[in-house]
Amino acid sequence: MRFLITAGPTREPLDPVRYLSNRSSGKMGYAIAEASLEAGHEVVLISGPVGINRPRGAAVIPISTSDEMFDAVHQQARNCDILVMCAAVADYKPAKVSKSKIKKRDGNLSFDLIPTRDILASLPKNRKYIVVGFAAETENVETNALEKLREKNCDIVVANDVSRADSGMESDENEVTILFRGGEIKKISRAPKKIVARELIKIFANVCEKRLTKKIA
Ligand code: C5P
Repeated sequence: MRFLITAGPTREPLDPVRYLSNRSSGKMGYAIAEASLEAGHEVVLISGPVGINRPRGAAVIPISTSDEMFDAVHQQARNCDILVMCAAVADYKPAKVSKSKIKKRDGNLSFDLIPTRDILASLPKNRKYIVVGFAAETENVETNALEKLREKNCDIVVANDVSRADSGMESDENEVTILFRGGEIKKISRAPKKIVARELIKIFANVCEKRLTKKIA
């Protein structure tokens, strides 16, 4: 199967030397890319700036901003069977990007932020590929993730509690709840991201296979 995976943070520039970003390390997305390759799948990895080696055998498309990720996903999605949106895309970006470095002055400084385009929500409703979204939540994890699944028209949402220091963002371990469009819920208990990724890949490929056999039957 052909996996299209996004990973890492995006950077939204304020001026030539500053940007808004988040704590995403890219570890989960890269572990999913490695696990997909290990299972014999084809992988295209759209990656924000991270400090991890490229997975051997993956076609890597480096991006920086949410707009670059938006374009790359739209270009690549038509050639995939499963899109895994693991990246922590910024929800807001500065309304204006200053061409020159913003000078330090006395007093407070404020910026207007505008919403970025939601990549998941922008995907065509009628599509051949499976779409997996990720939900990093600090409270009401399942309720918020279910809302995300419906609002963003995903087939699957993988939710994790990022309020815990021992799993989720930056950590080497994760514990996830998987919500399916049909209402089913599965859990993967705390384990190294590599192990969680292997389990996730099996689940995604299974859903994809079921969809393909349904179409042929
Ligand atoms: O709304 P929230 O950012 O919590 O949603 C997370 C999910 O949505 C992730 O799968 C992320 O990759 C995706 N996302 C997106 N476009 C955005 C922001 C998030 O596709 N602008």
